[in-house]
Amino acid sequence: MKFFIDTANLNDIQEAQDFGVLDGVTTNPTLMAKEGISGDDLVQKHYLAICAIVDGDVSAEVIATDYEGMILEGEQLANLDRKIVVKVPMTKAGIRAIKYFSNKGIKTNCTLVFSAGQALLAAKAGATYVSPFIGRLDDISVDGLGLIKEIREIYDHYLFPTQILAASVRNSTHILGCAKIGADVITSPLSAILSLLKHPLTDSGLAQFLADHKRVAAQNN
Ligand code: E4P
Repeated sequence: MKFFIDTANLNDIQEAQDFGVLDGVTTNPTLMAKEGISGDDLVQKHYLAICAIVDGDVSAEVIATDYEGMILEGEQLANLDRKIVVKVPMTKAGIRAIKYFSNKGIKTNCTLVFSAGQALLAAKAGATYVSPFIGRLDDISVDGLGLIKEIREIYDHYLFPTQILAASVRNSTHILGCAKIGADVITSPLSAILSLLKHPLTDSGLAQFLADHKRVAAQNN
């Protein structure tokens, strides 16, 4: 399973890259706005800065909502760096744009997916990634991980190559749930990935090892 970080913050991306288990980055217009990034020039520079840090795929979302606008913007983004994946919303124009990009060999991420039917359409159009938002489904008391399971089953029936990129992942339970189901990728804040490190027995075990070492070292000196 690949680990992507869901942020446009360069410090967090660098920290995740240095941690050693990062496979890519996803952004969205809200995450870019959080960093104060807008306007073609700044946006493009920011994506180039992200691509310079990470080794893997970097999802860059189009702002246009019409087909022609998505194509124009998506091609500009894709031309920035080979790591760029054009992120397109799950709309009628979006599906058409994904088909166009897929025919041209441009990688895509179909975002804002909340149902298995939407995921089926994204795969049919040739999306590289599909992004079901599990945290936002949980927020409205719908089983987010249940959706990942449904999509996995459907994609496996037909051997669709579209990768399931579980998005809106908020905690370690989400990450483990996705791993058990067989999601191809999770994207989350760095904090959720780092929370996989934690176990109280690891902390107390390490403290004991160090204390025992120190005690005997003091006796031998
Ligand atoms: C997906 O790519 C989105 O950027 C993201 O995962 C949304 O997460 P949120 O629901 O925590 O905003």
